[in-house]
This record gives sequence, structure tokens and C-alpha cells, in this order.
Amino acid sequence: MDFQASEMSGRTQADLTKEEGVGEEEEEEDEEEETVNSTEVKMSQIVMPCHSNHRQELSVGQLLKWIDCTACLSAERHAGYPCVTASMDDIHFGRTIRVGQVVNIKAKVNRAFNSSMEVGIVVSCEDLFSDRRWRVCRAYATFVTQRTKTGNKVLLKPITAHTQQEQVEYSVAAERRRMRMIHDDIIKDLLSATSFQQSDSLAVDNAVAAERTKVESVELVLPPHANHQVNTFGGQIMAWMVNVATIAASRLCQAMPTLRTIDMFTFRGPSQVGDRILLRAIVNNAFKNSMEVGVRAEAYAGEGPNRHINSAFMTFEVLDECGTPRTLPRIRPEPLEGRRRYEEAIARKKIRLDRKYIISCKQTEVPRSVPCDPRNQVYLSYNNVSALKTLAARNNWLLSSEKDKVHLYTLEQKSTLCFRVEAEVDVPAHRAFCLLAELRNRTNWDKHYKDCELIRRIGDDDFLYRVVAPSVDHGGNTSPVSANQRGGILQDFILLASRRKPCCKGDPYIIALRSVSLPTHPPTEEYNRGEVMCAGFTILETGNNMSLISYYNQASPEVLPYISTDIAGLSSSFYHTFCSCSQYLVKNREEPAPDDATDSLASSVQATHL
Ligand code: COA
Ligand code: ADP
Repeated sequence: MDFQASEMSGRTQADLTKEEGVGEEEEEEDEEEETVNSTEVKMSQIVMPCHSNHRQELSVGQLLKWIDCTACLSAERHAGYPCVTASMDDIHFGRTIRVGQVVNIKAKVNRAFNSSMEVGIVVSCEDLFSDRRWRVCRAYATFVTQRTKTGNKVLLKPITAHTQQEQVEYSVAAERRRMRMIHDDIIKDLLSATSFQQSDSLAVDNAVAAERTKVESVELVLPPHANHQVNTFGGQIMAWMVNVATIAASRLCQAMPTLRTIDMFTFRGPSQVGDRILLRAIVNNAFKNSMEVGVRAEAYAGEGPNRHINSAFMTFEVLDECGTPRTLPRIRPEPLEGRRRYEEAIARKKIRLDRKYIISCKQTEVPRSVPCDPRNQVYLSYNNVSALKTLAARNNWLLSSEKDKVHLYTLEQKSTLCFRVEAEVDVPAHRAFCLLAELRNRTNWDKHYKDCELIRRIGDDDFLYRVVAPSVDHGGNTSPVSANQRGGILQDFILLASRRKPCCKGDPYIIALRSVSLPTHPPTEEYNRGEVMCAGFTILETGNNMSLISYYNQASPEVLPYISTDIAGLSSSFYHTFCSCSQYLVKNREEPAPDDATDSLASSVQATHL
């Protein structure tokens, strides 16, 4: 996860709006909503020479220590109990901070789960002489309450999100958590799925031998490195890791490298005062302007075995006097393990690029139908769900019309019009979720769905569909017959459907939809290829086995004609469609008997393993 570029969508919709058209590296500090948040902790530090490298810039290691400390204090303020760092999401350092400038760090708990919580951290810099402030990076860390002496988990009280920004963070935190839990497996799968070609750089004569960059260093954990529970501070471990990585990077280029990104990493196990921390680093690969350095940290005490506590991958650049990245020498990896890491570094570079492009890009600027392939599908799903959650958390929806308790809301954003249709339906939420999540069922109630085919299932909760829809005439009417009679052609959509069950009590079920493109399903002459930017359902249990069903759509040109007539009050197709949906749900409200083979709904739901 990318702090500066806000991977895993640290970039909220509010951020997106604020950042529109602004290069983030040059961005002045965002105005944060001024609220009283009981978990918020702030730290301000003047950067002194002892915090800096020889270029008079704040060392990243020192910054990480401050970040971790502020975040830990925020976590403990919420927990009222000692906490440890479990993981830190990707961080991208956009700008350096100089001696004499002031670093301001703000941390608050975005969401508490069971014994873990996500802490959001914003780092900004302040120039005391010019009164300028700017954002340096944004970070997400997970802290876990320490177990009791008897080994029991300490459960956390829930967080109440007050402002819109907090609501978005709260909602999307569940999706970020999901990504974190599968992160290592995703990377493993992506690495094993990547086919490596023989790289020409291996044949370069003047390539630097990787072993020349190898670093091994030991640290003794002393009381100042540990928290009040004698556990080593996560920030201290990170700082030591950055230190050895920086040495390895400078050995490749004989210059002072600049750390650009740290991939997400996990604290696999604790270490304490008295432990020795063995740190090993080597340049895994050097690309044209950047290099990947890998670091492994192990802890041991006395004669005991080494415990693997952390591994991290960091990207460095070497900047010339104008701040432009220099061309780097190529690297010749060590045989076997070195060769494997060399190739995996290439794959990780691709993964980082995909992730950054898909997750951190501005929703309104991305080509809508991002190609879906195994390398990016997990990030696309994340993007799909977080976009819908962000839209749903907006607090400036306006009630546009209402008919028989079916409400139509609109939300005008810069260049898009979003709408939401909402009503309470007499169906339990989990059943409504089952019925709505299987997109093929929609042909039963939505005349805009003429046909729907499941292309394939990707993972447990994500599915690709092809939907055929009638053309829309200018009056907003959809009629396949009249469209065909007029010689109009049908539309088709390739949709990624991502389904999520509630993470905690009070969360809605989510069914997020967005367009993707698939090489196996290119646009054809017979159909206009339509695109869905962001759409889907949230389904919230409201008690008495009822549910509040909301349908969202960030209106693309294909749906605008008919929704705009509804919004203008000229028609009420939203109402008829919703009524038809509601009748369909009520009719199928009972769970089908598990062995009822004749129930097509049951078999279709089971077939997709909802
Ligand atoms: N990222 C985010 N959360 C994680 C995680 C990760 N990589 N690994 C575990 N968690 C969360 C789980 O989701 C769970 O959350 P929940 O209780 O809210 O549902 C919680 O941590 C506990 O998980 P559990 O499986 O019961 O515990 P564990 O045996 O995996 O231990 C740690 C998790 C973090 C406590 C353990 O790995 C540890 O002690 N790590 C070292 C922490 C440390 O000392 N850090 C300072 C630097 S040395
Ligand atoms: P992997 O080998 O799969 O990358 P590890 O956790 O073993 O995973 O190591 C993480 C990184 O630490 C490696 O990619 C490498 O850059 C660095 N590293 C591991 N072992 C050593 C070592 N003995 N000497 C120097 N660097 C090492």
C-alpha cells in the first residue's frame, strides 16, 4: 500500500476531489476535517542534524520510528491496553524533509476489529520560515492488543465514525484488512504465475556482482529500543532494516540513494530487550533508474535458534543534483537464490506498477475498462469494492424523488452524476444478498438485463459476467423490440462483480460492479460495448428479517438518458425497476431446500459458492 499514492485506496473520495489536477508531490497539505476524535494523537518534531543523513535530509528510519510511535499511542489510547505493530502497508515517500523543518504526524484509529485495529497516519511537513505545509505521506498500520498472561485475546470496543472522512476510512478499512490478510498469498501466487524470460542484463559485461552489495549487521535490543512492555518497537526494527538496505543500495552505485517505497510488510513475531537482531540485505535487482533491495531480519537470544521476524522489499533511486533519477549499473545476481530473487524483483516491480495504477488512480480519470488479468485482478476487486464503499459513504446525497417509500437520491460530482435508489424490503439481508449477488438472477426482474452469462469465477468472492442490455432510446425507454425495429443494436458489458459479506455486525453486504476488459471477450460489431464505472448494491439488515437495499450507480453515458428523465421527474423507471426487484426478492425469500435440485436459484447460487 502506497502512502503517498494511497494504495489500497487510502485516497478517499474526498481526497480525490481535493487532489484533482494536483501533482501530489507538489500538493500543499490537505485541509483535514476539524473534529474531535478521541483516538487522535499528534506528534511534532523539529528535524535536527542527529535525525538526518549527510545530505541534511531526515532519515527515513527516524521518520518510521516517529510514525510507529505516534500510531502505537493512538492504538493504545483506543485499546486502553498495550499494543504491538502487526503490519505496515506500502509506503511511498514522495518528498524529502530537511534539517530545520518540522514534521507533523497525526494518527487515529480508523476501525477496530476484534483484537486488531487499523491506524491511519498522515505525515506533513512545515517550513517555519515560509509557513508552508505540505503532505509527505499517508500510512496505514495494523496494531494488535497483546494477549493476556493467560493467552486470551483482548477484544476492542468498536469505533464510531463521525465525519464523512471517518466513515469512508471506516468502511474501506474492512477491505484493506481483507487485502492484508491475503497479501502474502497474493504475492506468492503472482510470483509463481509470472513466466520469466531470459533477461539480457544477465549478459551485460560490466554488471556489478550482487554479492558486492551484501550487508550483514547485528543490533542488540536495549531498553531505549523497546516499549514499556519490553517488546522492540516496530519502528525501531523498520529503522534498522532501512539502515542496512541503504548501505546495500549505496554499494551498488557508490552514491547516497533515496528510499522511494517500502512494500507492505508484516511483523511475523515479537522480539524483546536482550534479543539480538540479525539484519541481512542485498540488492535483488537494478532496473534503469531504480533498484530493489531486500532485507531479512531475524532475532535470537543466547544459544536459541534464529526467529524470522520480518522481511521487506524497498525501492531506491539515486538522484543527480537536479533531482533526476540517475541511470544505475546493472546487477549480476548470485546463482540459485540470487537468481530467483532477481527474477522475483522483476515480478514485484510489475505488481507494484499494476497495483499503483489500479488502486491509486483517480476513478474519474482511469480508462474505465481496465484489462482484467491474473496479475491485477485482486487489485481490481479491491478497487471495485472500495469505490462503491466510498460512494456509499458520501454524506451529500440529495433526495430527488420518492414514491411509495422507494427513494431516489442523486449526487453530483465534478463530471459525474451518481444516483442511489433505496427502499426497505421484507427479505432477510443474507437472502437478498444471495439472490442479488448472482447477477444472472437479474434477468428475472430488470428489463435492462436481457441476458447475463457467467464468464468465470475469480477467487471466492469475485466473478466476471457478460451482460447484454437493450439499447436506450432518447426518451429513456429501453425496448429490445423497438430498438431492433429501428435498427438499433444491443449493448453488452463485461462486469466484475465483487461480493462481500459484512465484516462486523452493522456492516452491509456489498455487491460491487465495474467494467473490465477481457481479451477473450473483445467488443464485437453486433453490440455496443457499454461501460459501468461504479455500481452495485449495499444490503443492510434492519431487524425483523427486513433489509434496506440500496442500489448505486455512477452514471455512465449509457444509463444517463433514462435516469436523467427520472431525476427530472418525467418518468419513474427507477421505481418500477425497484418494485420488480423487491417483488422478485419477496417471492424467493425462503431459503431453498439444499437438495431441491429443481430450484434453479438454489443451484445457481450453490454453483457460484456464495
Ligand atoms: N496484518 C494485519 N493484521 C494481522 C496480521 C497482519 N499481517 N496478522 C494478524 N493480524 C490480526 C488478525 O487479523 C487478528 O485480528 P482480529 O483479532 O481483529 O481478528 C489479530 O491480528 C490476531 O491474530 P491471531 O491470528 O490471533 O494472532 P497471531 O498469532 O497471528 O499474532 C501478532 C499476530 C501480530 C500478534 C503476532 O504475529 C506478533 O506478535 N507479531 C509481532 C508483533 C511485534 O512485536 N511488533 C513489533 C515489532 S517487533
Ligand atoms: P526471499 O529470499 O524469498 O526474498 P527472505 O525473507 O529469505 O525472502 O529474504 C528477504 C530478502 O532479504 C531477500 O530477497 C534478500 O534481498 C535479503 N536476504 C535474505 N537473505 C540474505 C542474506 N543471507 N544476505 C543478504 N541478504 C539477504
